[in-house]
Amino acid sequence: MKRVFSGVQPTGNIHLGNYLGALKQFVELQEDYQCLYCIVDMHAITVPQDPKELRKHILDVAALYLAVGVDPEKSIVFVQSDVPGHAELGWILTCSSYTGELSRMTQFKSKSKNKESAPTGLFSYPVLMAADILLYDTDVVPVGTDQKQHIELCRDLAIRVNNTKKKTFVVPEGRYLKAGARIMSLDDPSKKMSKSAENIHSRISLLDEPSKIKKSIMKATTDSEGVIRFDVDEKPGISNLLNMYSVLSNKTIDDVVGMYEGKGYGDFKKDLVEITVEALKPIKERFDDIRESEELIKILKSGAERANAISEKTMARVKENFGLGLK
Ligand code: AMP
Ligand code: TRP
Repeated sequence: MKRVFSGVQPTGNIHLGNYLGALKQFVELQEDYQCLYCIVDMHAITVPQDPKELRKHILDVAALYLAVGVDPEKSIVFVQSDVPGHAELGWILTCSSYTGELSRMTQFKSKSKNKESAPTGLFSYPVLMAADILLYDTDVVPVGTDQKQHIELCRDLAIRVNNTKKKTFVVPEGRYLKAGARIMSLDDPSKKMSKSAENIHSRISLLDEPSKIKKSIMKATTDSEGVIRFDVDEKPGISNLLNMYSVLSNKTIDDVVGMYEGKGYGDFKKDLVEITVEALKPIKERFDDIRESEELIKILKSGAERANAISEKTMARVKENFGLGLK
C-alpha cells in the first residue's frame, strides 16, 4: 500500500484554509493509502511558544484530526516529538542541504523580513519537514499550495542523497487540491488565510461559533461591481468566497456562479454563512467529545509506537548508507 504523510503545526486557530487545503484531503486518502498524520510540535518551536499553551494546542489539533474524520483505526495519528527519528534524520539531511537553497524559501524570507537575525530553526525548518516526509518512505504528501516550495526541496534532498549515497529515500509527490488549495484572508484577499493574523475576522476557525462565522463572512472584503463571477485578478474577494462555497457544497464554481446570476453579494454571503455553519457544526460537536476523552492520549501513544516502528527501519538504512554508528 502506498504511503501518505502530512502534518499540521499545533499553533491554535486551525482555520477553514487548513481544513479545505489539507485536512479534507487527509480524510479522503485514508481509504486507499496507509496514512500517517502528525502534529508537528517541533516545527511550532521555530517561533517562541508558551509550554502550557503548546501542550494544549497539540491535543487540540489531535482532536481536530479525529473530529474532521481521520480514523485512528485506519491512520496513524501521532505527535512529532514522540518519535526521535524526526530530529535525527533532520540533522543528517541538514548536512546534505545548502544555505543557498534554504535562503530562497519564500516562507523564511517573509518571516525573517526586516530582522537583522532570525532563529536558526526558522531557517532550517524545511529540512525538518523533509525529514518528516522521508522518514516514512512517503509517496504522497497532501498539503496546501503554500507548501509547494518545501515539497520541492524535500524531493531535491531525497534525489541528492540517492545520487551521492546508495538509493536511500523514496522521492515523494505533493498533492494539492484544485479548489481549496489556497484560501485567502477574508479581510485582505491578497494574503492567505493564516492562524497568526491579528484580525480574527480574517479567518474562520473550525471551532468558531455561528455568530462569529456570520460576522466574518458578512464583513468579508468584496468589490463594488456587484456581480458574482470568478476572476481572481479583478475580483479576488468574491473569487475566494466562491472557492469556499464550491468546496464546502461540492459544487463546481461554474454551477455556483450560475445559481447567483442576477443576485447580489448579500444573498450570496448569507447562503455561504449557512453552508459554512452547517459544515462546521458536526466537527465542533465531535471535537468537544473527543478533546475531553481519555481515548485521545491512548490513540496518540499507540500512533507514536506504530510510527516509531516504521521510522526505525528507515533510520537503520540511512545510517548504513551514510556509514554512521556501529553495525
Ligand atoms: P499550517 O497552518 O502552516 O500548519 O498548515 C497546515 C496545512 O494547512 C498545510 O498543509 C498548509 O498547506 C495548509 N494551509 C495553511 N493555510 C492555508 C490556506 N490559507 N489555504 C489552504 N491551505 C492552507
Ligand atoms: N510546514 C507545514 C506547514 O506549515 C507543516 C509540516 C511540517 C508538514 N512537516 C510536514 C506538512 C510534513 C506536510 C508534511 O503547514
